[in-house]
Amino acid sequence: MRTHLCGNINERLDGQTVTLCGWVARARDLGGLIFIGLRDHAGVLQVVVEPDNKPTFAIAEKLRNEFCVRISGTVRMRPESQWNPDMATGKVEVVANEVELLNASAPLPLLMTDEDGEEVRLRYRYLDLRRERMQRNLRLRARLNAAIRGYLEGHDFVDTETPVLTKATPEGARDYLVPSRVHPGSFFALPQSPQIFKQLLMMAGLDRYYQIARCFRDEDLRADRQPEFTQLDLEMSFVEESDVQAIAEGMVRHVFRKVLNVELPGPFPRISYAEAISRFGSDKPDLRIPLELVTICDAVRQVEFKVFSEPANDPGCRVAALRVPKGAALSRKQIDGYTELVAKYGARGLAWMKVNDRDAGADGVQSPIAKFLDAASIKAILDATAAETGDILFFGAGPKPTVAAFLGALRLAVGRDFDLVGSGWRPLWVVDFPMFEYDAEDQRYYALHHPFTAPAVADAEVLRADPVNALSRGYDLVLNGSEIGGGSIRIHDPALQQAVFDLLGIDEQEARARFGFLLEALRYGCPPHGGIAFGIDRVAALMAGEDSIREVIAFPKTTTAACPLTGAPAQVDQGQLDELRLRLGKSD
Ligand code: AMO
Ligand code: AMP
Repeated sequence: MRTHLCGNINERLDGQTVTLCGWVARARDLGGLIFIGLRDHAGVLQVVVEPDNKPTFAIAEKLRNEFCVRISGTVRMRPESQWNPDMATGKVEVVANEVELLNASAPLPLLMTDEDGEEVRLRYRYLDLRRERMQRNLRLRARLNAAIRGYLEGHDFVDTETPVLTKATPEGARDYLVPSRVHPGSFFALPQSPQIFKQLLMMAGLDRYYQIARCFRDEDLRADRQPEFTQLDLEMSFVEESDVQAIAEGMVRHVFRKVLNVELPGPFPRISYAEAISRFGSDKPDLRIPLELVTICDAVRQVEFKVFSEPANDPGCRVAALRVPKGAALSRKQIDGYTELVAKYGARGLAWMKVNDRDAGADGVQSPIAKFLDAASIKAILDATAAETGDILFFGAGPKPTVAAFLGALRLAVGRDFDLVGSGWRPLWVVDFPMFEYDAEDQRYYALHHPFTAPAVADAEVLRADPVNALSRGYDLVLNGSEIGGGSIRIHDPALQQAVFDLLGIDEQEARARFGFLLEALRYGCPPHGGIAFGIDRVAALMAGEDSIREVIAFPKTTTAACPLTGAPAQVDQGQLDELRLRLGKSD
């Protein structure tokens, strides 16, 4: 139907006759001449319809936005004064000989700009996706997938599909369940990840597996979380951490080169979980922000201000400072804003100190808590934080995890507000995660990665003796403050696997019921193995410069896990429920 794509028309085609298909992005009647912005997936091109071409002009007059048309005409240069540097096709235009209306459009329910609200964009996603930005995002994602496949195929990974109708896989979220008609009262669970299957594939001798796999998690949604999302999942046999990390790092470098033409910086740095929390208040630090938390326990152990001295003397607690260069200019109102922010992360308050004259020591600071601190302590704080005139120091005191959470959030907010977020890409590995997290409310341990992650100690007895301090063989890959991948070396010894289940409160009987097939498989010469999974939606969003992964998913769900386009989830008719032997309770 066409000879060229709109976006590819340029000055080299001057004088040629072309036939194009696309949509009317805009139509303007300018004193007898009609200008049409004709859009296809390659770009937008200006088409001119002149009045002396009467039949064509008559059709062109009726064109409205998003009408689908086919246009034949001649390419010509625009006068230099009319060149449009914002358009790739901005030096040329096509003079139409013939305009064929392929299909009209009903009046548009949305503007088809960034101004449209998310609900209407998702309701009419097929229109929203016609926009250049969305076309660019989807095409970038496709190139990302292709680059991933190219790299892994070249490294002997075997693309293998695993079931979607399966049994629960513990990744820490709720399962999506699917009732079985054939087995009334029984349910499939949709996989939270292919974790168990990929381990079975290692036991099956596949050696290297990968899959671009859909995962399903019923959890609270955010900008970077969807109920169904896509992982690049991989697993390798006879490996240690460094082997998996080398492949993962090589792949990430390769895809950035292929998709964005970007050379990522030198070997990705590795920092321990403990160091990440201590320095950045986060296990996914954004290294583009040049601010760090500084522990000041030593400086305030003796002060009369109990908000500081008590936690400073408690090993489970911490007093830390965040120095913000040029922050002394902050108003009370702005400081109150930050105080409100940290309160959301559990802070009881946010003490601060403006450094108005560093050389004057304790006399040069302004702070609501200065009266509770002696001159020597203030000097020690200023020294520890390397404070300079014009800075502000924010303080966090309390249980270590709370202080990390709120000062970590403050670091991000201040980094943004003070325009301190550097440009470029800052990947890093976070390693040496704790094996377990203790939940005081539930009085039980949770796995920080998942229950198949190997502990750093291979001996089940050593692990049992001190689970709180046990480290795991897990690792995360973090890029610009986003956790883009996570994985681990797995347990391949059935006794150690049961010991970990025990610590997680999964007794032998329950373990057999839930993961019996895995425990059994471990008994038949299971090879040492490990792997990693990347969140493709997150990588694509970062590459596209989008804040939300919804912008790189063709048909995403809303934050309430629904699809405005199809109306899913939806009620089903009584017959279907009867067939499944399901009866609905009263909804509240
Ligand atoms: P994990 O749970 O860390 O590990 O998931 C791996 C990566 O998937 C992405 N991700 C998500 N992306 C969008 N929406 C979500 N709801 C969501 N949840 C996770 C993140 C994350 O880093 N089986 C293990 C991997 C392994 O051990 O090999 C797993 O699923 O980018
Ligand atoms: P208070 O003694 O509670 O009035 O607090 C005195 C100052 O310390 C106020 O500026 C509070 O914002 C601040 N503050 C209170 N609790 C904390 C805390 N846990 N961490 C940091 N600052 C705090």
